[in-house]
Amino acid sequence: MLATSTNCVPLRRAVAQQRKNLQRAYHDLVALPKKGPIVSYGPPGRSATTGHVATVFGCTGFLGRYTVAKLAKAGTQVVIPYREEDEKRHLKPMGDLGQIVMTEWDLRRDDQIEECLRHSDIVYNLVGRDTNQAGVPRFVHVSHLNAAHDSPSAFYKSKARGDDLVREAFPDATIVRPAIMFGYEDRLLNNMALWPIWWKLNNMATKIRPVHVFDVAQALANLISVPSLPGVLNLPGPSTLTYEYLLTLVSSVTYNPHSRAPVVPKPVALALARAAQAVWWPALSPDEVVAGTSTMLTCPATGKVGVVPDEIEQHAISYLRRYRSAENFTRPVVFPSSRDAEYGL
Ligand SMILES: NC(=O)c1ccc[n+]([C@@H]2O[C@H](COP(=O)([O-])OP(=O)(O)OC[C@H]3O[C@@H](n4cnc5c(N)ncnc54)[C@H](OP(=O)(O)O)[C@@H]3O)[C@@H](O)[C@H]2O)c1
Repeated sequence: MLATSTNCVPLRRAVAQQRKNLQRAYHDLVALPKKGPIVSYGPPGRSATTGHVATVFGCTGFLGRYTVAKLAKAGTQVVIPYREEDEKRHLKPMGDLGQIVMTEWDLRRDDQIEECLRHSDIVYNLVGRDTNQAGVPRFVHVSHLNAAHDSPSAFYKSKARGDDLVREAFPDATIVRPAIMFGYEDRLLNNMALWPIWWKLNNMATKIRPVHVFDVAQALANLISVPSLPGVLNLPGPSTLTYEYLLTLVSSVTYNPHSRAPVVPKPVALALARAAQAVWWPALSPDEVVAGTSTMLTCPATGKVGVVPDEIEQHAISYLRRYRSAENFTRPVVFPSSRDAEYGL
């Protein structure tokens, strides 16, 4: 029998529906509950499953990669929104098969943000921008220990403003404030080894409480098992250290002599930083000069997240050995003789 135009309609609809079904993503097939009990299962180790699904915005950054690693290692399924195809490849083997779900996103597209959050019961925002929570029970926003409305630095001021917006939108959010972090890809030890002159601002008297990026990532991962922790969680390192001590540490661990460059006065540094804005690659910004010459906050830790932070000396060699010359490469690690009186600590 020849098909008439009337009996073709349901067939066309079925084909159209079939096509639509085929366009669906694989993860559409399993709808995980957004709330309710989270059941862990599976064997211990890499193939364990916590039952949680976490979305990590900013997963391709410095803190992001370690946070994804800690979550995935514990057996949490991690949704990793990315912008650049090549930037997320290293994250894929951090979890068991199917545990790392890659999703392309654009910060300006609400539908894409919602797609990233659809199955998650906890969201980490490491981008430093407020995101739409779309009914997700837990929201963890990463800010900065130095976030303050009265900070002379525009960056730290904007961090404080961001925290206010997060609080307004999600009163139950956990706002995590780590201090400046050190690690393999940091902008602290690496910059000190490469550009010691920029750390000679403020007569090297600026004090910070550097914290290991692994400890911050572990604290973020531990938050998953805390049902609710509204408010601010400060995550500084264990010790308050001056730039002078840190430069001496870098110099003694790398066996590279101290920089003989003079201490740069703030107006000169500001003028140089403004001029450096003309180049297209990231250089020291005027705001970083302002931040580096002002008092950094060194508040103690708040809240208990099951992490005892490591001292910077415990890891310095791991991140600084690459700055040693060939003849010094395997020499023993030597630390500056004293931390305290000599460096104004
Ligand atoms: N690093 C520190 O010492 C330190 C200390 C205290 C607090 N914090 C805070 O911790 C958070 C993470 O720091 P981090 O050092 O890991 O930062 P980072 O290395 O600069 O990474 C930033 C991440 O945010 C993403 N991102 C930036 N702008 C974006 C945009 N417009 N749209 C979408 N994604 C965007 C980047 O994605 P792409 O890869 O696609 O660019 C990257 O994944 C930040 O809020 C930072 O202020 C950092």
